[in-house]
Amino acid sequence: MAVRESIEIDLDKVDQLITDQEGLLEPQHRASIDYRETARRHVAGGVASSWQAAPPHAIYIDRGEGSHIWDIDGNEYVDYHLGYGAMVVGHAHPAIVEAVQRQVASGTHFAQPTRDLDVIGENLSERFSLPLWRFCNSGTEATLEAVRLMRATTGQDLIIKIEGTYHGHHDSLMFSVIPDPDLMGPREHPVTVPQAPGIPQAFADLVRVVPFNDLDAARRAFEEHRDRVAGMIVEPAMMNCGVILPDPGYLQGLADLCHEFGAYLAFDEVKTGVTLSLGGAVEAFGVVPDIVCLAKAIGGGTPCGAIGATGELFRVVVDGEYDMAGTFNGNPLTMAAMKATLTEVLTRDAYDVLNHVDGYLKEGLGASIERHRLPAYVTGIGAKGSVIYSTTPVREYRDSFGIDERVTYLAWLFQQNGGVFKSPWAKQETWTLSVRHSDEDAQRYVDNFETFAAALAS
Ligand SMILES: Cc1ncc(COP(=O)(O)O)c(C=O)c1O
Repeated sequence: MAVRESIEIDLDKVDQLITDQEGLLEPQHRASIDYRETARRHVAGGVASSWQAAPPHAIYIDRGEGSHIWDIDGNEYVDYHLGYGAMVVGHAHPAIVEAVQRQVASGTHFAQPTRDLDVIGENLSERFSLPLWRFCNSGTEATLEAVRLMRATTGQDLIIKIEGTYHGHHDSLMFSVIPDPDLMGPREHPVTVPQAPGIPQAFADLVRVVPFNDLDAARRAFEEHRDRVAGMIVEPAMMNCGVILPDPGYLQGLADLCHEFGAYLAFDEVKTGVTLSLGGAVEAFGVVPDIVCLAKAIGGGTPCGAIGATGELFRVVVDGEYDMAGTFNGNPLTMAAMKATLTEVLTRDAYDVLNHVDGYLKEGLGASIERHRLPAYVTGIGAKGSVIYSTTPVREYRDSFGIDERVTYLAWLFQQNGGVFKSPWAKQETWTLSVRHSDEDAQRYVDNFETFAAALAS
């Protein structure tokens, strides 16, 4: 990242621009705003999941096709939200539609195994270099199972996780996801902060938090809890406060450290798997952990999850000591969509498309940042990227404290008003690309960003 002179962002101006942009947005979303009042009568908050109500208001979607979606007001967008990164295949991809339709006509659920298993298992093994796989229905379930396997195999309880990462919605890992700076304690010894009310302190006592990209801090945690650590879970590239890439050697260092202390390393590849590259972070960074957790993009838009691991870790399952089970695990609709995704859509050449659009986008955004001397830089890999509003590299969660969320919110508003749909904006300007995105789609993003950058710098 080149160090250069940049402008100071005027936050009063940002506040004014937010008021202007919100004023432009609201009239375009009357049907969404009204429908929420109807839905609220019997649905808590009028949305199915709390993040769907991110400010300024929930936007209800009508349909999607390729790289585009339409909301219930009839507004059309290029979609960079992509259902939190699940739709890397693009919306209504003909191969997925065909596979799901074929399966619907043959029955949608048996809770018995079907004959897509071997192809999918082999495909994932080749991509992620782990021999054995099981299936579930979400990223939450995949990381829950990873923690269970590490604890069951070592007989230890303690899990080490990274500060500022999200691994799903269960009590084992929902700590220090976006911790309040007043509660998070010193960097050398972060406090394990529950991310929600209702999580007992007893669970917090089983989790130790360390900063990303710091092998010494991880070693200290292992040394302080010698013979108590079952394993460490890490998002190999952090995705929830912009994209933060691992320093060279960091991930291999973690694997070595875990093994030195008789523990396991799990990669949470729910966001990075099959998006950074064909083999996710394992391929992109050349490090094979003991466990890989997958979800989102592997299912082509169906509820999905998968966990891959070594034979050693799956022994308790294969031997029947632990029943890793779920009614909808390996659901035939999901498996049909997953098979088509892995074998027909997200094939090796799909990553040439993603990398091409990624390059186009980064070049355009980088030029705007340069032209207007914004205190920001562009980062990412494969289908995932972000603008980070900092002049110094953000290497861990605490480095992002200087980023004012009003700036990322304003960037989001400019994109939304310019026909680009993004995931909620807090501390991030992150996008996901699909194999259906084109240069023209990327240009729309770049044009909106240029308008935003010019407004900030004027
Ligand atoms: C890295 C990571 N792990 C796990 C999850 C949980 O996945 P799900 O929402 O499918 O339960 C998410 C969700 O965003 C995630 O980003």
